[in-house]
Amino acid sequence: MHTRLAIALTTIIAAPAFGADEILIADFERDTYAPWTVTGEAFGPGPSRGTMPGQMHVDGFKGRGLVNSFFKGDDSLGSLASPEFRIERKFIAFLIGGGKSEKLALQLVVDGKVVRSATGPNDKHGGSEALAQESWDVAEFAGKTATLRIVDDAKGSWGHINVDHIIQTDVKPKSFVKDAERTLTATSRYLHIPIKNGAPKRVVTLLVDGKVAVKNDIELADAAADWWAPMDVSAWRGKSLTLRVDKLHEDSTALKSVEQSDALRDAANLYAEPLRGQFHFSPKRGWNNDPNGCVFFNGEYHLFFQHNPYGWGWGNMHWGHAVSRDLVHWEELGDKLLPDDMGPMFSGSAVVDWKNTSGFGKDGKPPLVLFYTAAGNPTTQCLAYSTDGRTFTKFSGNPIVKEVTGGNRDPKVIWHEPTQQWVMTLYVEWQKRHTIHFFTSPNLREWKLASISNGDAPGGRFLFECPDFFELPVDGDAARKKWVLLGADSAYALGTFDGKKFLPDVTRLPGHRGKGFYAAQSFSDVPDGRRIFIGWWQTETKGMPFNQSMTIPLELRLTQTDDGPRMTFSPVKELETLRTKTHRPDVKSLKPGDKNPLDAISAELVEVRVEFEPSDAKEVVFNIRDIMIEYDVQKQELSVAGHRAPAPLRGGKQRLVIYCDRTGAEVFASDGLCYVPMPFNTKPDNKRLFFETRGGAAKVNALEVHELRSAWHPK
Ligand code: FRU
Repeated sequence: MHTRLAIALTTIIAAPAFGADEILIADFERDTYAPWTVTGEAFGPGPSRGTMPGQMHVDGFKGRGLVNSFFKGDDSLGSLASPEFRIERKFIAFLIGGGKSEKLALQLVVDGKVVRSATGPNDKHGGSEALAQESWDVAEFAGKTATLRIVDDAKGSWGHINVDHIIQTDVKPKSFVKDAERTLTATSRYLHIPIKNGAPKRVVTLLVDGKVAVKNDIELADAAADWWAPMDVSAWRGKSLTLRVDKLHEDSTALKSVEQSDALRDAANLYAEPLRGQFHFSPKRGWNNDPNGCVFFNGEYHLFFQHNPYGWGWGNMHWGHAVSRDLVHWEELGDKLLPDDMGPMFSGSAVVDWKNTSGFGKDGKPPLVLFYTAAGNPTTQCLAYSTDGRTFTKFSGNPIVKEVTGGNRDPKVIWHEPTQQWVMTLYVEWQKRHTIHFFTSPNLREWKLASISNGDAPGGRFLFECPDFFELPVDGDAARKKWVLLGADSAYALGTFDGKKFLPDVTRLPGHRGKGFYAAQSFSDVPDGRRIFIGWWQTETKGMPFNQSMTIPLELRLTQTDDGPRMTFSPVKELETLRTKTHRPDVKSLKPGDKNPLDAISAELVEVRVEFEPSDAKEVVFNIRDIMIEYDVQKQELSVAGHRAPAPLRGGKQRLVIYCDRTGAEVFASDGLCYVPMPFNTKPDNKRLFFETRGGAAKVNALEVHELRSAWHPK
């Protein structure tokens, strides 16, 4: 009995998951490639164990090992050759990923000739390191002797190939349909595209009446979707739309599942999602990075932004668009600049052309002009204009600035009153340095190089990407103004500017002191002259149909310090309209062991303002919903969730302002000299607040806690 059972079990267990007929050619599970032969460096000393240093996350391989020619990076070259084997099955199946190029290949060689060849899926920036199943029909070579070759003859971006688990089988592996299509008539505002985060990217094209109208790389869901990305097709109502996917599994439901409607899908709790910042702007769907085109026009603040409408991660750069009358309540209006033949739409800025120098104005109305980088090959600077702040036309004379060097980007344009001309600052890698190129123009269309600001030594981050440039008075004194030049990390230089050349007095001053703050931009044309600044806040929101956000709008000023003028950050005063309930605990001083003055307060969204004088306290500590905000008196350092920043006492006092949202906290100390943005996901049901001192007492001059409401549902 037992023996029989054992035999039966063995038979079941021995049967492989698919195709009992399967012959393994290579699984790359050993420490070396033997018996394959290796040439060159690209493949390393043996199979890779997955992601290599400097590589994006590699997945989709089987077991522990795979072929990954990223050894020493993209530039290394080499090849791998298998021993001879007999073709004994109808198909050869394998997993493949990496770059897409004639110089990257898995090849089948029969009688000295390459009879089949496959390459990876990636040929542009971004992409995915996921390996995918592919196969060849090799029935015609039955019985022949063959070899396999893996070749990496490619340098530069995506100059590597990944291969794993090569087998022979008679069971036809699932195949791909090339250029799978579905045609429908546009009846609604949106087509809903199914997204599976992390799935291989497919090229999804929308053809309108047979012509390409929209093209994106999308992590399409072959089965159940994580979320649905709305593709706005309202411009083509009544027309015939064809969705085309470059490559789709034969049993994928991606195209079939696309539905049309006028509303977003699964949007019952839009803006109330558990990880949605409640007073920080984020897009309804998809990814955002940099703020773009920040400007005040026709009574509204306009916030454009780097948007991937079709992915949870970066890619397919569009300019999303939102407007607000008060910098607090934002309405997202949809994408205004879509990728085109000149490339994806990278970052840039906006101005109001009051004197209509550009001629884009109409009926006496000044145009709103957007400047963006078309990040194709070449990468150029372009413009688009509008007189209503809703519809935008790309200039037929684009580009307005040709490529200086590859990767030049992020034009920020300002009006320079003394010389009555426009000035553009542009990030350019020039002679291996990060530089800002200054261009000037009388009319926004024609630009001349005026000067090059030399930035940092090679390799540094100073003045890298997304420059901004503006003048600020020191302590409000209009007679003492300084020009501020800053880059994406907000480190800045102060100096003078004559309309052509920026001469720094002091450089490399640190900007923000926290984490996840990047590529901030200041608003142009703000009526009351404030310099309002908003940053990309790298708040990760796993499991949500959106990702990332913006910081709260900040007001920038210059203030005199012992070291010279320095920039300060403060929350804009408009945020005060979010206050629902104010607590002013009656506490004049605080020492260890005292009752927690914030005991009675329970709040999720909160603004805390305090002024204290340390006396003999060693630390003054707030615990806001488990976010530790600790002031070290002796070191004059602030620590937010363990991240430390210098925060000098000002006249023996420390003033803190703390804003806490679902996606993190922004803490201001030392009258704005120290701004610490800190992204993290708060726990929804922890609403406790604590205030205490350690090691001694502190004098409390003022303490206010404001409960805040969501900015998304104005009451
Ligand atoms: C900064 C940046 C910009 C670029 C944009 C692309 O975050 O790299 O330099 O224009 O993002 O999305």
